[in-house]
Amino acid sequence: MNYTVVLPAAGSGKRMKADKNKLLLELFGKPIFIYTLEVFEQDPQCEAIWLAVKADERAIIERYVNDYGITKVKGYAQGGMERQDSVRACLEAVPPCGVVLVHDAARPFIASRVIAELVNEAEKTGAAIAAVPVKDTIKKAAGGIITETVDRAQLWMIQTPQAFRYELLLNAAQAAHKEGFLGTDEAMLVERMGLPVHIVESTYENVKMTTPEDLIYGKAILESRKQ
Ligand code: CTP
Ligand code: MG
Repeated sequence: MNYTVVLPAAGSGKRMKADKNKLLLELFGKPIFIYTLEVFEQDPQCEAIWLAVKADERAIIERYVNDYGITKVKGYAQGGMERQDSVRACLEAVPPCGVVLVHDAARPFIASRVIAELVNEAEKTGAAIAAVPVKDTIKKAAGGIITETVDRAQLWMIQTPQAFRYELLLNAAQAAHKEGFLGTDEAMLVERMGLPVHIVESTYENVKMTTPEDLIYGKAILESRKQ
């Protein structure tokens, strides 16, 4: 099944504490978001890539896209205040398609196997998201005192990509906007419509470049892939 991917890239990367959008930071001389784009450029099932970008970063991003020979970028949408606004702007801009994937431009190490499983599952059931089992013990606390230890066997760390039938996600995103609901991922918007969202087990390598230490891990992943 072919799909369109929507990449929110309009953040500012505050937690990275860099002097520019973290997506433009380089790992071994190549900007982070180009690694992400290359995964989809090389996936034969990916039909089109759409990016949500800040108005004043569009020119530099477009230049990199051209310089690195990324041919599948079909359009840009203007990012919004929140990630959810950026994703909605992109969903409203893309031509309707069967399955749409939403993937953080800041996750350059996504495995092709996970993308393929997500697309199949979304085609079959409507909604599927990438996740990995929680490794640590998780507890709830109030005022620094533990109130509860949560059963780890039921906990997943949620990543992107998140894959959906296009109409289903567009409707859920527009309903959330109308009702003033702000979620932290696309799945939440679909969950609140009462629809099931399926998990596809992903890899721990699919980390989001968020804080400075993530860059060290990112370089180590790239090194290990060279061997
Ligand atoms: N993003 C976006 N529009 C926003 C906020 C975030 O398109 N208004 C994008 C980011 O560019 C990133 C992805 O959503 O690719 C995941 O968000 P996050 O890791 O939180 O990135 P930032 O918001 O840039 O970082 P921070 O929260 O540290 O400022
Ligand atoms: Mg953010």
